[in-house]
Amino acid sequence: MKETLEKLGSEAQSALAGVGSMQELEALRVKYLGKKGEITAILKQMGSLSAEERPVIGQLANQIRADIEEAIAEKTTQMEENSLSERLISEALDVTIPGKEVTVGRKHPITIVLDEAKEIFIGMGFDIAEGPEVELSVYDFDKLNIPATHPAREWTDTFYITEDESVHLRCQTSPVQVRVMEKQEPPIRIISPGRVYRKDEIDASHSPMFHQIEGLVVDKGVTMGDLKGTLNLLVSKLYGESTKTRFRPHHFPFTEPSCEVDVQCVVCGGNGCRTCKQSGWLELLGAGVVHPKVLAGCGIDPGTYSGFAFGIGLDRMTMLRYGIEDMRLLFENDLRFLNQF
Ligand code: PHE
Repeated sequence: MKETLEKLGSEAQSALAGVGSMQELEALRVKYLGKKGEITAILKQMGSLSAEERPVIGQLANQIRADIEEAIAEKTTQMEENSLSERLISEALDVTIPGKEVTVGRKHPITIVLDEAKEIFIGMGFDIAEGPEVELSVYDFDKLNIPATHPAREWTDTFYITEDESVHLRCQTSPVQVRVMEKQEPPIRIISPGRVYRKDEIDASHSPMFHQIEGLVVDKGVTMGDLKGTLNLLVSKLYGESTKTRFRPHHFPFTEPSCEVDVQCVVCGGNGCRTCKQSGWLELLGAGVVHPKVLAGCGIDPGTYSGFAFGIGLDRMTMLRYGIEDMRLLFENDLRFLNQF
């Protein structure tokens, strides 16, 4: 029995030396020291020993058990230390490595100027209205008093969506006037910014998609004077107090009288340059007093109410604001250009 015990002891010690994981270690503990383990099995046979042998074997068994326990404890500590230092190495964080640069986006210049314009109009009591870009021709043409023969109705000018010409990509934001007047009783005071589409060739001042800001005021006693006051305030806030405007007679089917409004060239200050084609002026918008036919068509009595409307070229307004000479820059999304704003 003594030999068996000693053999078990040295067997256990060499098995322990080769252990590689906590699971293996636990398996060995159970194998040798567990309730059904090999040493326990031997101790259970002690009853068959003589009275002299019993304490000797008992002591030896206890010694071997203690040795194994000690070896297991040592091995446990050693393995815990190993795994800690492995984690310290693998999870090491070098706080001196420079961080990754975060790129923050910014507003497009058109959005910057639109936000400024909105701010100015909201300050004058305007609300913001929206209308669809895919528009019914009834709203974009008929209800705006645009005759059947008008060139804007040609397939060469307008992006039709249906063969019967009843739906197209709106060529102006003016249909929003109609949509608002049909729904809302005067007093009305709205602006409506958005995209518009025309079959224009792309050059320094044209793009098949561009932006307008429509404006509409309808109330009792509204005149051309109110129109001038409103637009002059906009211009002086956007381009500075001393910026001059010029109201030129023009024709639009949905306003009478109608005008186009020019702003003193911001590049040359009105002296004449390449940007203003030597005229000293830059066209910014179309406007006028809402045609009585348009009011009546929307269910508003032109005997009681009058109004003014305008359509600002937002891209043009942006170019003037920053002295940008080529409209294409606004739509090419070149970050070298956009990062300047
Ligand atoms: N819709 C006109 C255009 O696109 C501008 C305009 C708007 C003129 C409102 C008068 C009144 O040219």
